[in-house]
Amino acid sequence: MARHDYSIRPEPRFEDGAFIPSAPLPIVLHDPDDWSLRDDIALMRALMRNAIETTSQTSRSQACVQGKLFGHEFFTVADPKLIQFIFVKNHTLLKMNDTRQRILKPLIRSGLISAEGEEWKRIRHLLTPMFTPRHIRTFSKGMKTTINREMPLTLKDGAEISLTTTMMNLTYEVLSDALFSGEIDDDKSVMISDFDSVLRTMGRPDPFDVLKFPDAIPRLTRIPGRRALHRIWTRVGQAIDKRKTKEKSGESFPTDFLKLLMEAGDETHGPLSSEEIQDQAVTFIGAGHETTSHGLTWMLYLLSQDKDARQRVEAEVDALDVENTPVDKWVDALPWTWACFEEAMRLFPPAPFVSRELTAPISYGDRDFKGGDNVLLNLWALHRHYDLWDNPDAFVPDRFFGKNRAKIDRFQYLPFGLGPRVCIGQRFAQQEAIIMAALLLRDYRFDYTGDEAPWPRMRITLQAENGMPMLVSRRG
Ligand code: HEM
Repeated sequence: MARHDYSIRPEPRFEDGAFIPSAPLPIVLHDPDDWSLRDDIALMRALMRNAIETTSQTSRSQACVQGKLFGHEFFTVADPKLIQFIFVKNHTLLKMNDTRQRILKPLIRSGLISAEGEEWKRIRHLLTPMFTPRHIRTFSKGMKTTINREMPLTLKDGAEISLTTTMMNLTYEVLSDALFSGEIDDDKSVMISDFDSVLRTMGRPDPFDVLKFPDAIPRLTRIPGRRALHRIWTRVGQAIDKRKTKEKSGESFPTDFLKLLMEAGDETHGPLSSEEIQDQAVTFIGAGHETTSHGLTWMLYLLSQDKDARQRVEAEVDALDVENTPVDKWVDALPWTWACFEEAMRLFPPAPFVSRELTAPISYGDRDFKGGDNVLLNLWALHRHYDLWDNPDAFVPDRFFGKNRAKIDRFQYLPFGLGPRVCIGQRFAQQEAIIMAALLLRDYRFDYTGDEAPWPRMRITLQAENGMPMLVSRRG
């Protein structure tokens, strides 16, 4: 059978009135007896270049697919019941997958995303109260102020912009205001570009990780990002030190994440140490600004192509009384806008891979998993599964609109993950996304100007390879 041609990039198109964005074709895995080192190498190169390009046809059409890379077995699961069985009912038998940890640990040390076991339990317990609806509502006023302040600075009528950069700036501003009340703002653009360069260089698997070489052997692909990473850590550390000094001198602060982190603690371990606060702060920025930003960027691209859907969004946001509608009611007040955002995250899940390793055997039906097996929840495959979705590659916000939303199984749409390790920032992200979508689309229109269709590329998060060029027009 012919080998997969990774260079094919299908043109975006309309079919039966629905827009189908350009996206990698699923690979057809050929006969395992015919599988050779050449296939391993091609797969490994694709994995490093852009992991979603390795999504197979079978993982989009079957419940569970067994794969092999350089002799290491893994399972891609895409059946809602099986997903619930493994990731929720048997979560105590899961540990973080080695390759994932090798990518994340150097970036965020013991931040909540990479912490495990008792350490994870303690930190999750301490951080959960920071994300209650009450606190998230408190942040909403700041979110609106930040977005209203920043939008006119970057979005000029007739300007050609990189939407990726613009949205990253906006979501970074929102997060840094929520985290530090602006106290880390001095070199915002350096911080954002440092995060970008860290993800570009360090946010993907190195061949040595996949081959399970010992950590003592340096990963050459990661070296270029190290300096940027060091700068991020230093700046966050300095912001924390500055706050501690000010606090000692009796200054008071608004309720921001840093204040909440400094107040967090338990009887056994006392308060979080400066180092632990730093780990969580870097994690919040790392996990929180790119994801929301890419979700919104893909949404605006899809709306720039589907003009009818955009018109409906514009009518909805124009009708919203921005000043007097409480922010936690915006999702209900803007059901079509929200459906468009959910649909954008279905087609382009901002954090597409949830990977784990089983620590003990489990059986599901006639399928046996061994301890040590790697299980991958590939949200790209799940969200485009042929048996779970009609017209899976098309942008159809209607599936998330009104009564249709209830027809979607809880475990077939999982942009924020699931089980005990579900995204802790989900509410924050949702509130930020609806505020940003409403305020942006009330005042501006975005039209895609790229010569070629944007191509999704995975570097932990799923971004547009070309930075999403857009023409900005002021509305009204
Ligand atoms: C649209 C925006 C977002 C998406 C799609 C998203 C997605 C995810 C996913 C899929 C996970 C699970 C990862 C896994 O199980 O391996 C996760 C975990 C996490 N997210 Fe988010 N996230 C978003 C926004 C945020 C924000 C705004 C924050 C913080 C302010 C945040 C902080 C975290 C943290 C700390 C975890 C780790 C939770 C744990 O392991 O206990 N995320 N996120």
